[in-house]
Amino acid sequence: MSGRQLLPTNVRPLGYDLTLEPELEPQTSGERQRSDGTAVSATDPTTTIQDWSESEGVVGESRSNDDDDGAFVFRGHETIELEVVQETEEIVLNALELKIHTARVGDLEAREIRYDDDVQTATLVFDQRFPAGRNIQLELSFQGVLNSKMVGFYRAKYKDQVSGSTKYMAVTQFEPTDARQAFPCWDEPALKSRFRITLIVPGDRQAISNMPVEQETCRESDGKKVVRFAETPLMSTYLVAFVVGELDYLEAHTADGVKVRVYTQKGAARQGSFALDCAVRVLSFFTDFFGTPYPLPKEDLIAIPDFAAGAMENWGCITFRETALLLDPEKSAASARSRVAEVVAHELAHQWFGNLVTMEWWTHLWLNEGFATWAAELAVDHMFPTWQQWMQFVSTTFAAALRLDALRSSHPIEVEVARAQQVNEIFDAISYCKGASVIRMLANYLGLEVFRDGLRRYLRKFTYGNASTDDLWQALEEESGKPIAHMMRSWTRQTGYPVIHFDDTKMVVHQERFLADGGFSGTKSASESAANKSDSESVHWIVPLGMINNAGPSDARYLLLDQPQAELSSSGVVRAGDELRWIKLNPHQTGTYRVNYSLSMWAKLVEPIRDKTLGATDRLGLAMDAFALTKAGLLPASVALQTLAAFSKEDEYACWLDVVGSLGELGVIFASEEADLRGHFDRFACDLFRHTAERLGWRPKPNEEHVTALLRSLLVGALVKHGDKAAVSEARRLWKAEHEGADRVPADLRLAVMSAVVQHGTGTDFDAVLEAYSKAPMDEERVRCIRALGCTRDRNKIQWLLDWGLDRTQVKSQDAIYVYSTLAANTAEGRRATWSYLREHWTTFYQRFGKGNFLLSSFVASILRDFSTEEVAIEAENFFQSIPAKERESILRTIQQSVERIRANAAWRQRDAVAVREWLSKHDR
Ligand code: BES
Ligand code: ZN
Repeated sequence: MSGRQLLPTNVRPLGYDLTLEPELEPQTSGERQRSDGTAVSATDPTTTIQDWSESEGVVGESRSNDDDDGAFVFRGHETIELEVVQETEEIVLNALELKIHTARVGDLEAREIRYDDDVQTATLVFDQRFPAGRNIQLELSFQGVLNSKMVGFYRAKYKDQVSGSTKYMAVTQFEPTDARQAFPCWDEPALKSRFRITLIVPGDRQAISNMPVEQETCRESDGKKVVRFAETPLMSTYLVAFVVGELDYLEAHTADGVKVRVYTQKGAARQGSFALDCAVRVLSFFTDFFGTPYPLPKEDLIAIPDFAAGAMENWGCITFRETALLLDPEKSAASARSRVAEVVAHELAHQWFGNLVTMEWWTHLWLNEGFATWAAELAVDHMFPTWQQWMQFVSTTFAAALRLDALRSSHPIEVEVARAQQVNEIFDAISYCKGASVIRMLANYLGLEVFRDGLRRYLRKFTYGNASTDDLWQALEEESGKPIAHMMRSWTRQTGYPVIHFDDTKMVVHQERFLADGGFSGTKSASESAANKSDSESVHWIVPLGMINNAGPSDARYLLLDQPQAELSSSGVVRAGDELRWIKLNPHQTGTYRVNYSLSMWAKLVEPIRDKTLGATDRLGLAMDAFALTKAGLLPASVALQTLAAFSKEDEYACWLDVVGSLGELGVIFASEEADLRGHFDRFACDLFRHTAERLGWRPKPNEEHVTALLRSLLVGALVKHGDKAAVSEARRLWKAEHEGADRVPADLRLAVMSAVVQHGTGTDFDAVLEAYSKAPMDEERVRCIRALGCTRDRNKIQWLLDWGLDRTQVKSQDAIYVYSTLAANTAEGRRATWSYLREHWTTFYQRFGKGNFLLSSFVASILRDFSTEEVAIEAENFFQSIPAKERESILRTIQQSVERIRANAAWRQRDAVAVREWLSKHDR
């Protein structure tokens, strides 16, 4: 398709036989020399697998070595079976940061090996043409760097629990396009192959890969283990994985006999027991739901000490950040349990959606990520029906989708991706959250059983193959007999989503695109006018539109809105005889849209929130819409505030999650720099929380619900953040008591307590939290400490933290984001300081997080998100314009989105500053 940088199709890979030997100890420069002192030339034909241990190797000069990367190498050898489709003398494949020593087909040695770093390929030129229709065996030997950037084949650092010394694991992270950093390959998702993998590792390490071990031998010459794994089924390169380390594990089996293990560092296996239990249950759940058994004999879930993402679904060999897999029954918070269950379920969903059936190109990434996000909720809801998983989905995932997709610089779910450098950026809230939201909408529209049967049909048809978005629609059409493709393309091929304006006097609805700035700024981005029709009125979505009213608060009625507007009185949605006091559209918030009502209807809707005639998800939905519409300038500020105020007797965690978040945002935009307004505002917030917070208390009650623990943690944190005096002093008392040897502060309150201590305490308190950080037994606690430290109001501490965040001896690269995102979120001063720091140290940030990693976009987005002045918008535009084009290529969309968000914030502040102040001071009597 147009513009995609794809490999030539003159040859096609069928199978790889791959051997890798990573060095897990740093090599001194002496050891890096060959024993005879000579260097190995790139085409030295004598370099074979047997004499690797003697060959020297420093490659990857282009990789910035801020941590002696050159000292860690891996050597590789592979034989790739290729089908020659068209006669050729050149073979082009992906390779990056690799040195290919030799390339040959039979006796024929490549005459030339050319690298192109921009498109990340190597071209092998032979003196002879390979005729079409014949298979050939391409044999390569190569070498790479076991890097420290958490991509490709990399090293993760940890402390040996027994000796306390620093050790390394070798780990892979290939998705989306970094298998090419570990071995030369055809690194595109549609080029599926079988893999036979062999790892050569020190005798005291374990080696894990996608498949079970088939054979393990000892190499006489140096006592190393040669571990050969069974051949994989047909699969994409980005799902290949290896892990080499010293590990403990827990094991269980599913009813179908799949062997499931959770691997941890030595001594930590018991922290894997919750995840193991979830994994076994989820595997059975998906086997049943998808109607296809898990196809591999084993599934390993492995905790990795340095890991860029949350987890990665490598087939049969799933890797995780420690906080996404491990729990300590005493020391972990309820939120950690939620996280582990969700991440395990998400990665297991990929074993079908993504691994068994794979997107044909990154444009359809959402088929992986949107689906896994949706399916994970389904599985967690199945395992833990009292967790209110779907309600939380609305306040987190659905909310994130609507937030990002309200920007002009958003993108359609199906988005054209041309270059490897652009793929990371689409692992965003559109692919994950909007993807999951439109799937939920569709599943509700079709009914879960019809939807499930359509999925089964799709999985059967494309097993071990690749599919596109349209393939899924086709399967669902065949199953349901409904025109799904037509409806769903309006959601996956258009940017944005509608706001439905509901006129309750005429009983008419009309839709238009919802924009974060209300559509008032008037400037359309080039991509928007190209992609969408210029007249915003004619852009429309096919919306399953439902409504409930006071006559039937749980009796939803639906119609399919496929026009810009419609009459409701004749549609059967409203029945004669219904005595209408209030009407709410989008029951259970299953539709990916917002609703705007008349001011009088908004006023009436406050009642069923207060008296809870409306169900919790609908109360939540009204709060979300009122707030977003106000922010966009489509409603006066009083509507958002009066709606929030209606939640004072609320009990549901998901509702509070939204209310607390909205209050936080209001505070940032309106009260960051004005102390008197801050006072009004904080009192308003604390008054709102008081009733429920008092009901919950600070002590966990025996056998209380999971969501109760979550809610307590949330509200105590919110009270502390808004400076409630009683809460702050209770927090400080608990902290002091812990340090005097009394009870430990319960896990669910630790973040709030430590935040209070840092925010309202002295330098000594700051140091005490820092000390807790250095002694923390788990990453979960370390992250809490970082986030608490980021609450400091002390200018010098802010500066100190900014440097500390980049000190790799203190803060893991994977966790640096927490330092900067909390500093930027907490105070106006911290925000400005963090933004200056990012600009001053850009090169360091870029080199550490930017090269083929998605972390860089999260730094930019989280540092800029809360600004609300035109000056910073311009500063950001100018700054990113001034850096080399190569350094912004992977964050172009993020930059645009950040700037657009700042401008929307600024417009809101200007528009509503007076009204917010008036409303709050009237309320604060
Ligand atoms: N496939 C992703 C991992 C990934 C993310 C690879 C970004 C490359 C770039 C994995 O399935 C995933 O989505 N992980 C999430 C956790 C999940 C529960 C949302 C993550 O890493 O945050
Ligand atoms: Zn995923």
